[in-house]
Amino acid sequence: MCGIVGYIGKKQAAPIILDGLAKLEYRGYDSAGMAIFDGESIKMMKSAGRLQALVDLSHGGDLLPGTAGIGHTRWATHGKPSDLNAHPHFNTRGTISIVHNGIIENYQALKLMLEAKGYVFQSETDTEVVAQLLDFYYRGNPMEAVTKVMHRVEGSYALGIMFSDHPDEIYAVRKSSPLIVGQSEEGCFIASDVPAILKYTRTVFYTDDQEIVKLTADGIEFFTVDEEKIEKEAVTIEWDANAAEKGGYEHFLLKEIYEQPETVDKTLSPRLKDGRIVIEELGLTDEEIKALRKIYIVACGSAYHVGITSKYIIEEMARIPVEVDVASEFRYRNPILMEGDLVIVISQSGETADTLEGLRISKRLGCKVLGIVNVVGSSIAREADNVMYTWAGPEISVATTKAYSAQLINMYLLAIKLATVRGAISDAKAAAFIKELNKLPEQIELLMGCKERMQKFANRYVGAQDIYFIGRGIDYAISLEGSLKLKELSYVHSEAYPAGELKHGPISLIDKGTLVVAVLTQEELYQKTISNIVEVKSRGAFVMAVTTVGNEEIEKVADYVVYIPQTDKFFTDSLAIVPLQFFSYYVAVGKGCDVDKPRNLAKSVTVE
Ligand code: F6R
Repeated sequence: MCGIVGYIGKKQAAPIILDGLAKLEYRGYDSAGMAIFDGESIKMMKSAGRLQALVDLSHGGDLLPGTAGIGHTRWATHGKPSDLNAHPHFNTRGTISIVHNGIIENYQALKLMLEAKGYVFQSETDTEVVAQLLDFYYRGNPMEAVTKVMHRVEGSYALGIMFSDHPDEIYAVRKSSPLIVGQSEEGCFIASDVPAILKYTRTVFYTDDQEIVKLTADGIEFFTVDEEKIEKEAVTIEWDANAAEKGGYEHFLLKEIYEQPETVDKTLSPRLKDGRIVIEELGLTDEEIKALRKIYIVACGSAYHVGITSKYIIEEMARIPVEVDVASEFRYRNPILMEGDLVIVISQSGETADTLEGLRISKRLGCKVLGIVNVVGSSIAREADNVMYTWAGPEISVATTKAYSAQLINMYLLAIKLATVRGAISDAKAAAFIKELNKLPEQIELLMGCKERMQKFANRYVGAQDIYFIGRGIDYAISLEGSLKLKELSYVHSEAYPAGELKHGPISLIDKGTLVVAVLTQEELYQKTISNIVEVKSRGAFVMAVTTVGNEEIEKVADYVVYIPQTDKFFTDSLAIVPLQFFSYYVAVGKGCDVDKPRNLAKSVTVE
């Protein structure tokens, strides 16, 4: 979703802002703009389309000189993508400039109120209302106007604000939208995410909801909405700026697929001590684990698919009932949560609005919330009772790969831990699981070798209209993720079905030559899925099977087979997903799609 970058300091602001916005491109956007204070007034340039259009328009920032400015990449919500709707937005007099990430829910009522007072609006955005409202309240004191606006607006916002009569200051506030603040000897920064400023500083402050930040060239001050000063501790970002660069790969997505062995190892290793699973951050006593009545898993998209895999594993391994919900459904379905139930929210970004709201509802109902989160210091990480981080590092490509793999690892560890404490499995069984887990990084590495084969196979399906994925149990969860990867990256229509469900309707879609990807990694379900393969084959389907080494007789029924190494049945998702990621990637590349930034998608979905 929208990206914000702001800078005030000793250097020229525009090139820093353009560079920062480029680092936030992964969030998804459809227009870009920036406003720079040039010593006399605030000058602005903006353009629909790619960031490059703004780079060209401003001659790389040269046409906007000045050492203080704010910039934005917009992902349209209110009003189409256009030059006019792009941010920054101004008050009518052009003296207050803002950039905004989020949605002002009561903007229509505020707009009517302001129009009645003579304010004239230029754009269709909710954001412009904030600029005009700031003007309405402004009497020369920025803090006063900002706090008054915060009391009036409803919804979510991260805002960067400049007042032309306070040229040495930038203000920023946030509520339910991400905003970080950085400091270096050369100046101070605001940004939606760390990669935007990592080239300039590793010293970062995470802002909390309803806090106000005042930046000058020399320092940063934090205030509550009641204008009381707050002391904040800086955090030093450990990861390297290179982690957010392509490093010679054609796309971030490909790089991130290749990073999976390392990601899995990094997520796994710190929680294995002397052959046992130690999850220090779990925050549950053995008594609490034994008393668990139910687990709810709440997430969106791929993280939701991790939830489905986890349900199969936790229920079978630990014998605890698990409900998995898409967060946007969970938040409105009045779930029957009881004190003592555990809610697990899974999120790469830690900012997904629906997941965050699911967390808040669960806490209000008295449940403990465990976050499985990748972005350190994100909203979900800060609001969950406990956080098990996935150590995937920055994931830049909009479609997730390595964070998904890391989430799986955390859920495996959790399942084994719960099962052991509850006596559902023996220590010897737990040790056997750990042994298998330890092999995963190497096995995933081995699967990198299937890249060329998947590329060749994918090339045949560049023109495909529909591709179906089928599987049973965990294989169904893998199918869901394989299908999502394909549709979001390549825009090929795709569905995933539980294999046994085909004959209840979807099989009528199978025609001569339709590609069906069948996933068969679960031994006890293997023959059942074979029967389903036979059913679709006899309707003309072409079948690619993904199965475990040793299942060679599948070649009698499937047209094309991809083998994964042997592992425990609970952990096959980590392996089977790799060829499916390559497949989706190469169909997308073959079609010339924008792999790292698929159309209409955003990396961090901060609106519901
Ligand atoms: C798919 C994908 C999305 C995310 C979903 C949740 O490749 O990336 O489906 O999984 O938007 O995002 P997070 O994990 O940030 O909550």
